[in-house]
Parts: sequence; C-alpha cells; structure tokens
Amino acid sequence: MKILVIGAGAREHAIVRALYRSPQQKNIFCLASNTNPGIAELCDEIFIGNFNDSEFVVSYANEVNATLAIVGPENPLANGIADALWKAGVKVIGPKKDLAQIETSKAFTRNLQSDYMIPGSPKYRTFLSLDGVTDFLNELGKNFVVKYDGLAGGKGVKVAGDHLHSHDDAIAYCLELMAKGGEFVIEEKLIGQEFSLMSFCDGEHLIHMPAVQDHKRAYEGDTGPNTGGMGTYSDANHSLPFLTVEDISHSHAINIATAKALKEKFGEGYKGILYGGFMATADGVKLIEYNARFGDPEAMNVLPLLDSDFIDICQGITDGALDQIDVQFKNKATVCKYAVPEGYPDNPIKGEPIDVSKIENPNRLFYASVDIQDGQLVEAGSRTVAVVGIADSITEAEKVAENEVSAVKGPLFHRTDIGTDELIQKRIDHMKSLRQ
Ligand code: AMP
Ligand code: GLY
Repeated sequence: MKILVIGAGAREHAIVRALYRSPQQKNIFCLASNTNPGIAELCDEIFIGNFNDSEFVVSYANEVNATLAIVGPENPLANGIADALWKAGVKVIGPKKDLAQIETSKAFTRNLQSDYMIPGSPKYRTFLSLDGVTDFLNELGKNFVVKYDGLAGGKGVKVAGDHLHSHDDAIAYCLELMAKGGEFVIEEKLIGQEFSLMSFCDGEHLIHMPAVQDHKRAYEGDTGPNTGGMGTYSDANHSLPFLTVEDISHSHAINIATAKALKEKFGEGYKGILYGGFMATADGVKLIEYNARFGDPEAMNVLPLLDSDFIDICQGITDGALDQIDVQFKNKATVCKYAVPEGYPDNPIKGEPIDVSKIENPNRLFYASVDIQDGQLVEAGSRTVAVVGIADSITEAEKVAENEVSAVKGPLFHRTDIGTDELIQKRIDHMKSLRQ
C-alpha cells in the first residue's frame, strides 16, 4: 500500500508514526513545505513542494502510485485537494471542498446548525453590510464575538472583553471585514471551558476520539497573544476533569448530527476527521467551530494512544466501513507541550540551531517547524518541536512532558503551566462556579 501524507508539521509527524506502526506492508510518502527529519526518517520520500497546488499534488500522487492520501492541514482541503485526488483514483482522508466548508466558512456552519436543528449553537447572525449590526449587538449586550467568514489562521475572530471593548470597536472591526469584501458573523460570546472532540467519520458512522483541551495563549496563565496552540492534555478516562458525562455525550451527539446534516445537504458523506471545538457552559455544551482535519497539537495526544491499526481505520473511513473496525485508545493520560521560538507568534526568530539530543524518549518527540541547514537542526519560525508525556494520570504525564520539553536547547520557550494540577484545578473551579 502506498500512502501519501500532505503536510510536514508535528501533526503530520504523529500521523506518519501512526501509519508506520501498522503491521501492514506499506510505503509512506510526504509532500512537505520543510524538511521534517522525524517524518523523513519514517518515509520512503519527503518531497518539498507546494501542496496547496492540487494539480501538483495529483501528479506527485500518480508518480508514487499512491492509493490513499491523508491531508494534514486545512488549506489544501479549502482548495479542493480531496476532489482532485478522488477524481484521480486516490482515496482521501479529508473532506471534499463543499464539505470542508464546515471549517472554511463560519456562516456555512452556523446556517447548517440552524437549518438541520443541530443543537449547541449560540445566537448568531450573518451580515454583508452594517444593516442590522447595531440592533443585533444591542440584543447581545456585552457578550458578542465578530468573525470573518473565511480561513484566517486563527486571526479572524475577535471576542468582546478580549480584543473588542465596546460596540464601537465591534463596528470598526465589521468595517474592516467589509473592506476585505466578505460576509461576517456576529454571535453570542460563550462563557465556559473549551475542549476539542475529534471523530473519525466515514460519511455515515463516527468513532470518537478522547477529548482534549488546548491552550491557545502564548504565555503562562493564558495571557499573551493567540497561537496555533501551545500545548494540550487528555485524561485516562477519555473525558476531561471539568466535563460531565453528559457534556461528552452531547459533544458526540453534535458531531453525529453534523455528519448526518452534511450527508443530507450534499448527498455525499464527510470522509475524514470531524473536529469539533466545543465550549462547556452553564447551559450545556455549545459548538464554537468545526475543523476538517486533526488538531495540532491534539493529534499528538490521541494518535500515540491508538491501539488499533491506523491504516485499517483509514480504509474504514474511505470505504464507508468504519462500523466494522474495532477502534481502541489506551486508557492513559497525555500532556503535550510545544517549544516555540523566542518572539513567537508575533516576531519569531528563525534559522537558530536547536539541540534535541538530551531528550530521554525520542519516540515522544514530534518535529514541527524545523529545517536542516548545513547538517544542523534549526528553527523555521513557527512552533518548533512538541513532546508528549503519557502516564496513568495527567499529573504524571505533565512531569514527563515538562522534563522533556526543558531538555530541548536553543532560543525557545514553552508554557510550564499546561497540564499542572494548579491550572487544571482552575478549570474545574471555573466550571463549578458557572454551574452553581
Ligand atoms: P475560531 O477561529 O472559530 O476557532 O475561534 C478562535 C477562538 O475564538 C476560539 O478558540 C475561542 O476561544 C474564541 N471564540 C470563537 N467563537 C466564540 C464564541 N462564540 N464565544 C466565545 N469565544 C469564542
Ligand atoms: N488546536 C487548534 C487547531 O488545530 O486548530
């Protein structure tokens, strides 16, 4: 079996490792934007090229005779890479362009929730002009969020109290978005704790992965600018310490209802990873957004726990036979921490050497934005490397992850607080205070 992986960050390193662990005969190829040494070691070839160019991806897939492709990042999906590959006879983990709107358009997702009565939507409205904006902001009061209706690398969402401090601020941002020439969404600000719940989906059947909590802010105590995610944790029971059994089952139900709605709407099912970003609130679980791919760092929490053959799961997804696959995740806790360049995310340094030789367990090290220059591992400007601790409790997993991430030498920083008892207690106390 010849498998093509698209993308070369830590998420894709986790995907390649999961494929590599399969006992099946396989050759793995990777289309990458940078030389990821972890991926290079496990693949037959890592080829640097523009994976946002569908024609190029199809020609490479043909050249290596790939029969299965796994798409890591969202941009190729937004460009219709799945449509192009299926057409060329390559099965794909990742939805076609229409179905990828679940990630690429915030308005699409909210309208789908509303049209198909999928639970968990905040109050929302979509706009093309300022008509009705003031009235709707008045209806929401101080709890509002303004979202650009397209992919913006996590920078299109502005939240009241965080980035916007008045209705005037909100209107100024709406004007900015109108100048870009697109639709925008205003919705109720949800108050609670965020978590990620990803499901394997074959168009019809879903298998849910353990819940994970990400930390988007750059600095300790959830301060500083938003990032791609500084670290994540998951618990041995596959829930999270601040969630109830109902919270988990509601998030499962929302993913199931969304997959069903997509199939009804397009007459064709969603094949790939359906990643719900949820908020546990006083009023139950609400949907913040969908992503059409594995989370990064979330993939590094869940894929190492997979006891089942990942290639079997991929075949189940592409062939609509996921109900026949027994998927098991270990009952272990995980903590993932990223080491990122000094200055990240606003002014990251680049090209500086790093040293990972002191890491105790290289199997739990995931390379991300790195390159090789003159035989030396250097920072490439975004999140650099991630490490994962796996243990019976979050407390123990955190100690492992902290030890390992501290062993990475170079001009880097990481969040020491992710996964600590103190931060987790804060999450539990916050939810308790909301539920009173
Ligand atoms: P998104 O690009 O949709 O992931 O949004 C980025 C971040 O904005 C989310 O991770 C949340 O922290 C925040 N956010 C988005 N929508 C809402 C909402 N309705 N209420 C509160 N926070 C939100
Ligand atoms: N963990 C955030 C993301 O993958 O989008």
